[in-house]
Amino acid sequence: MQDYSPAADLLKERVILITGAGDGIGRAAARSFAAHGATVVLLGRTTHKLEKVYDEIVDAGHPQPAIYPMNLEGAVIKDYDDLAKVMDQEFGRLDGLLHNAASLARLCPLDQYDPEGWYKVMQVNLNAAFLLTQACLPLLNKAEDGRILFTSDQITQEVKAYWGAYGVSKFAINGMMQMLAEELSNTNIRTNAIVPGPVRTSMRAWAYPGEDPNSLPTPDTIMASYLYLMGADSKESNGEIINAQ
Ligand SMILES: NC(=O)c1ccc[n+]([C@@H]2O[C@H](COP(=O)([O-])OP(=O)(O)OC[C@H]3O[C@@H](n4cnc5c(N)ncnc54)[C@H](OP(=O)(O)O)[C@@H]3O)[C@@H](O)[C@H]2O)c1
Repeated sequence: MQDYSPAADLLKERVILITGAGDGIGRAAARSFAAHGATVVLLGRTTHKLEKVYDEIVDAGHPQPAIYPMNLEGAVIKDYDDLAKVMDQEFGRLDGLLHNAASLARLCPLDQYDPEGWYKVMQVNLNAAFLLTQACLPLLNKAEDGRILFTSDQITQEVKAYWGAYGVSKFAINGMMQMLAEELSNTNIRTNAIVPGPVRTSMRAWAYPGEDPNSLPTPDTIMASYLYLMGADSKESNGEIINAQ
């Protein structure tokens, strides 16, 4: 998949919504999708980070993006419905949805895991992905090549202790993705998950404080699979969990 060479206009005229677009992998995906012609909608909780990505995309001469500040931890059902309405009013379409935002909270044994923290992580990593998908499905269903891409983690391939709500949420994401892929198999929507692998971001640095970040690939270098799974070339991929590295 890393050998995939996308056409320069792979995502031309497509509208793609990206969660957690202000930093790390989400920022790289937003810039990469825009560089391939997409109008990207940058959703995240820190407005100044979203504005910076917005400026980077505009300065590079790519299609003008949009910013949608939203804290997934506190968002309620109506917020998702409002978002879908705004997408419909502003763009009249949605071609792709990248569920990328995630919260890691803390690493500790389950018997010591703070229940409040558990709820918060599940809200961001799992419930938000469900609610956002449900709200966006009517628009995605109208797309010629609708794409829903969830973000999984290598923790689901090699289970390790102490990954708490984050680890459990990623198992659930895989299950939800596969269920949805099955349910939507007769539509134009393709639903897959991506495992980024170790990447140089704030989340990785927080989880592995002793690791040299320079030993890891940057988010920009793992975008081939993201582009493949977001574009028309991935018509035959559905319900798959794909390693980006
Ligand atoms: N980096 C890795 O090595 C690695 C490995 C496996 C999987 N992943 C997955 O890749 C995805 C991206 O991670 P990353 O490494 O790029 O992390 P990151 O640099 O920490 O970025 C995470 C993004 O999610 C946003 N976010 C967090 N909580 C949010 C909330 N409540 N509402 C809205 N947005 C929220 C953050 O916003 P702020 O910037 O405002 O905090 C940030 O933009 C995650 O799903 C992660 O599980 C990463």
